[in-house]
Amino acid sequence: MEKSYISDSVIYVGADDKTLDLFESQYIIPNGVSYNSYLIKDKKNVLMDTVDKRKIDQWLKNVKDSLGDKKLDYLVVSHLEPDHSAGINILMNEYPEMKIVANKKTFDMFPQFLDLDFENRKTVVAEGDLLDIGKHKLQFFMAPMVHWPEVMVTYEQAEKILFTADGFGKFGALDVEEDWACEARRYYFNIVGKYGMQVQQLLKKVANLDIKMICPLHGPILKENLEYYINKYDIWSKYEPEDDGVFIAYNSIHGKTKEAIEKLAEILKEDGAKKVSISDLAREDMAEAIEDAFRYDKLIVASPTYDAGLFPYMEKFLRHLKHKNYQNRKVAIIENGSWAPMAGKCMEAIINEMKNINICSPIVTIKTTISKKNIEELKELSKNILEIEKEVK
Ligand code: FEO
Repeated sequence: MEKSYISDSVIYVGADDKTLDLFESQYIIPNGVSYNSYLIKDKKNVLMDTVDKRKIDQWLKNVKDSLGDKKLDYLVVSHLEPDHSAGINILMNEYPEMKIVANKKTFDMFPQFLDLDFENRKTVVAEGDLLDIGKHKLQFFMAPMVHWPEVMVTYEQAEKILFTADGFGKFGALDVEEDWACEARRYYFNIVGKYGMQVQQLLKKVANLDIKMICPLHGPILKENLEYYINKYDIWSKYEPEDDGVFIAYNSIHGKTKEAIEKLAEILKEDGAKKVSISDLAREDMAEAIEDAFRYDKLIVASPTYDAGLFPYMEKFLRHLKHKNYQNRKVAIIENGSWAPMAGKCMEAIINEMKNINICSPIVTIKTTISKKNIEELKELSKNILEIEKEVK
């Protein structure tokens, strides 16, 4: 397959999974996911990571077919999460002379994942260490919390390939044609997003390497225009907005809050908003809502009051945002309540736990149906969040 061709000596041996219901038991993956694994053939043969147990048979066949009558000398374990480590024990049995290359943290965590004696199979590597396997030379860089504590990335010096573990990963099987940024962004913010600072450290660490190709553990091999992908990761990990636009996340029990949101969207567009994106949190993918909240520089949350508190989907959304370190944005709040509105206070309390959030006035309170006064408030809110007066000056 052309997409998975790397070079004559670096061979893709991973597998697509199109039947998994939820990645990490929570994220929908309409186009599946790939578990990537790579074989480097040289004087010594090295396998870069294994795959999820769901695809072990196909992966093992790929490894054996690619090795032919050669033996496997090393397995590099860059990340122990089970979607990449399910084949370690199989390889240990299949190739009794194979050494496992990993850092100390990985080996410390090994017994939690494997019930095998690995002591005499260990090759422990640390920051900057080199593994010389012939023409190819592997250099290791630690990447703690991108996205587990033991993660490391590997730079292959001869072909200038960076093996980035989960970094630069994307949902979607390899044989699917789709935009990289959309599903890579959804993957990033939901899976790695909490660890922006650690991603920044990794980007700085590899900034001086001459990188010709990026091989992640999920999604396509990145072969061209690498600045584009690295720039996206730089923006995302700095928690900077990527696009000028308004994301409206709402809940509506009987459609009244939805009517208010539709009116507001109309006003925002009249006021010149470059982009207005809307999500009904109860009906649409929560992970995509998280992605869109990070993508745009302005967020409006609108929720009815429920059980004297917040509607559960909005609570889940805001808690997720907080967990993912949402920050540096303008946020506006709209609440609805037919007799004792409480949603606004609840939303404000969670938003106030986040870093560097500018809450725009006014906080709009709707009593069931939007009133004329509410429409005036929405107009004011639109001007404030779009900073229209500032632009006129
Ligand atoms: Fe794809 Fe963090 O495992």
